[in-house]
Amino acid sequence: MSASYDVIIIGGGVNGCASAYQLSKSGKKVLLLEKERIASKASSAAAGMLGAQVEVNEAGPLFELAKESRSMFPQLQPELKELTGIDIELVQKGMLKLAYQEEEVLSVIETIAIQQKLGENADWISRDEVLKREPELGPGTLGAMDIPQDGHVNPEKLTHAFAKAAITLGADIKEFVEVYSLQEHNQAIVKVETSEGCYSGDSIVVTAGAWSKRILSGLGLSLPSYPVKGECFSVLTDKPVLESTIFTDSCYIVPKIGNRLVVGATMVPNTFSENVSIGGLASLMKEAIRTLPAIEHASFERTWAGIRPQTGDGLPFLGKHPTITNLFIATGHYRNGILLSPITGVLVASMINGTKLPEYMDAFGLDRIQNLQ
Ligand code: FAD
Ligand code: GLY
Repeated sequence: MSASYDVIIIGGGVNGCASAYQLSKSGKKVLLLEKERIASKASSAAAGMLGAQVEVNEAGPLFELAKESRSMFPQLQPELKELTGIDIELVQKGMLKLAYQEEEVLSVIETIAIQQKLGENADWISRDEVLKREPELGPGTLGAMDIPQDGHVNPEKLTHAFAKAAITLGADIKEFVEVYSLQEHNQAIVKVETSEGCYSGDSIVVTAGAWSKRILSGLGLSLPSYPVKGECFSVLTDKPVLESTIFTDSCYIVPKIGNRLVVGATMVPNTFSENVSIGGLASLMKEAIRTLPAIEHASFERTWAGIRPQTGDGLPFLGKHPTITNLFIATGHYRNGILLSPITGVLVASMINGTKLPEYMDAFGLDRIQNLQ
């Protein structure tokens, strides 16, 4: 089978689907190839937090990227709903980052000062204020960083909404098609070899998450990246027990629609195994009960794991291949791929369309690979 496209995207997680949407919106004829189902990997395992301030706590390009992406969600929600009928379940009820030890208090206060200096909303609230806001929390906390602007979405619905919106705008999305290799000639990818034949496209984008390294290694590029497994579980409660998302050094608890609490997540580097270990689950449960004692009486729903794509320096790769002129890479979003997906889609489309890129993009370029080996 052979067909030609403006852009071929490899990987149907949130970042591939966001890129397919923005490229289709800009008039490109897009083909997205996914070896399993759309959102079958990290993008459905995620808790869906939009933790620009809770997850990124130092000034720099990643913080800029995260803030910009977070600010896109309020507009994206109605836009995707109108195009696809899918509600991404955006909740903007803030986050509390709890401190239990004096050292955590000092570190949180330092983060608040940095973020306030950068013009962000972040305040220290005392233990009494925390418990007034969230009376079901355990008594051990010393206080919290109050982050009104970090929220959450349903990551799986977000990914499907991007995919369906792209299809509505003319993209072809093929599930259960695995990309085996990329054929290069004269510093350009001329053929994408897959489990159902070959395709060609003017531009190729690799958004295969933790599996991007395997695809690129066939071209002699050793992407400094590695997988980090995260395990989660969810419970159902009879009535709402939390308003804000709760974040601690050992776990987070995200109050989803329908009295569902998502608890995450472990960090297990260098494995592609998606099994859930009893040890991982037990440690999460212990931390969750310490944080929110009421969870002990909730009904257990399910457990799952996903593979985060981490990079050598903790920054995603968003850029052009160093020598192959029509090959673009958008991966390495690690703990924040859901948060970063709206801006990733826009930046991938800008790179391919040759429109102006923000200055911070230099920090995410592939040129830095040589310093990370
Ligand atoms: P993926 O979702 O992994 O998608 C890559 C796709 O490429 C897969 O579907 C795969 O099947 C496909 N693929 C691979 N190889 C091939 C091939 N050869 N041919 C065709 N297709 C291929 N982020 C947040 O922002 N907020 C959170 O709260 C959050 N919580 C998380 C909790 C957990 C437990 C985990 C594991 C992650 C969490 N993340 C969170 C991180 C987030 O899930 C990831 O950063 C993001 O989903 C990565 O998306 P992606 O599209 O780059 O990769
Ligand atoms: N951002 C939450 C996680 O990766 O577990």
